[in-house]
Amino acid sequence: MERVHSLSMMSRSLLRHCLILISLFIAAATANTSTTTADQDGLLALKAHITHDPTNFLAKNWNTRTLVCNWTGVTCDVHSHRVTILNISRLNLTGTIPSQLGNLSSLQSLDLSFNQLSGSIPSAIFGTYTLKYVNFRENQLSGAFPSLIFNKSSLQLLDFAHNTLSDEIPANICSNLPFLEILSLSQNMFHGGIPSTLSNCTYLQKLSLPYNDFSGAIPKEIGNLNKLKRLYLGRNRLQGEIPQEFGNLAELEQMSLSENKLQGMIINFLQFYSSSACFCIRSLVL
Ligand SMILES: *[C@@H]1O[C@H](CO)[C@@H](O)[C@H](O)[C@H]1NC(C)=O
Ligand SMILES: *[C@@H]1O[C@H](CO)[C@@H](O)[C@H](O)[C@H]1NC(C)=O
Ligand SMILES: *[C@@H]1O[C@H](CO)[C@@H](O)[C@H](O)[C@H]1NC(C)=O
Ligand SMILES: *[C@@H]1O[C@H](CO)[C@@H](O)[C@H](O)[C@H]1NC(C)=O
Ligand SMILES: *[C@@H]1O[C@H](CO)[C@@H](O)[C@H](O)[C@H]1NC(C)=O
Ligand SMILES: *[C@@H]1O[C@H](CO)[C@@H](O)[C@H](O)[C@H]1NC(C)=O
Ligand SMILES: *[C@@H]1O[C@H](CO)[C@@H](O)[C@H](O)[C@H]1NC(C)=O
Repeated sequence: MERVHSLSMMSRSLLRHCLILISLFIAAATANTSTTTADQDGLLALKAHITHDPTNFLAKNWNTRTLVCNWTGVTCDVHSHRVTILNISRLNLTGTIPSQLGNLSSLQSLDLSFNQLSGSIPSAIFGTYTLKYVNFRENQLSGAFPSLIFNKSSLQLLDFAHNTLSDEIPANICSNLPFLEILSLSQNMFHGGIPSTLSNCTYLQKLSLPYNDFSGAIPKEIGNLNKLKRLYLGRNRLQGEIPQEFGNLAELEQMSLSENKLQGMIINFLQFYSSSACFCIRSLVL
């Protein structure tokens, strides 16, 4: 009698342990599933926005039968199984970029360069504060600069070169993207002045703005960017004097100011430059 009782006690406690284990397992499984489902849904939304995929890249395994971390072009964090890298560069993809890509909340690197993507750039993408690298170079993207209204982003590289974007550079760009190292907006239809507040991007190493429609004077504050190595401002409508403060750019290796309305300043500038402490510049196009 007692033996039966203790047995049933044992099985009850066993059962309880099993239930706890099972519920823990379900909790763990659903925790992973909900986050990876957000990644999967975001990427399936992207796939649905691609209208032409000449190499059938997305058709290979971008489906629910394959784990999202196994999809071509996708890399996940080994521990969290969250998508950290998406690289679908150079595939001649036609289509648009959906705002659902902003749901990939662990994304660090997004490379959609050298495709034929059109439409606007959804600001939702920049709500992901883990993002360090965004390359949309050589597409047919149009519309405004994404409003970047979100939390301070960790973004280090922003490359929108060779598109048809038409906007001004927002004056608050550096309060939204304080860690920016590379900003490349060349060959678009950007206009307005170069904001003096760009000097608040103190990590900036490359500022590439040629082949746009920027006008006004070059702000002297650019001379405060003491990590700047490359400065390309050619083929715009900039005018006035080349700021003397450029002599402070001790790391500068290449600079192009050609095809602007900065005539008359060149001789002065060269004299100024050769007399300044900075001899590091390797190539200079005026
Ligand atoms: C994911 O890829 C690994 C290694 O290539 C493979 O062993 C596994 O079966 C794949 N899983 C799924 C669900 O595709
Ligand atoms: C769930 O995610 C954790 C890390 O968050 C990871 O260690 C674990 O392997 C994942 N489990 C499954 C079943 O994918
Ligand atoms: C993406 O892949 C291409 C090759 O297809 C490579 O050239 C490029 O460097 C990759 N991008 C990143 C950010 O690693
Ligand atoms: C993309 O298209 C160009 C010309 O339209 C072609 O030369 C190139 O091979 C294509 N690349 C791929 C990956 O299909
Ligand atoms: C994905 O993003 C869309 C639009 O940005 C949003 O409406 C939706 O709630 C998000 N879904 C998930 C699962 O986060
Ligand atoms: C802003 O980002 C930080 C991490 O960098 C995060 O802890 C915080 O919750 C975010 N705030 C908002 C309002 O998104
Ligand atoms: C730029 O930085 C200065 C000083 O750090 C700050 O006072 C100013 O508000 C910043 N401006 C913008 C637009 O970020």
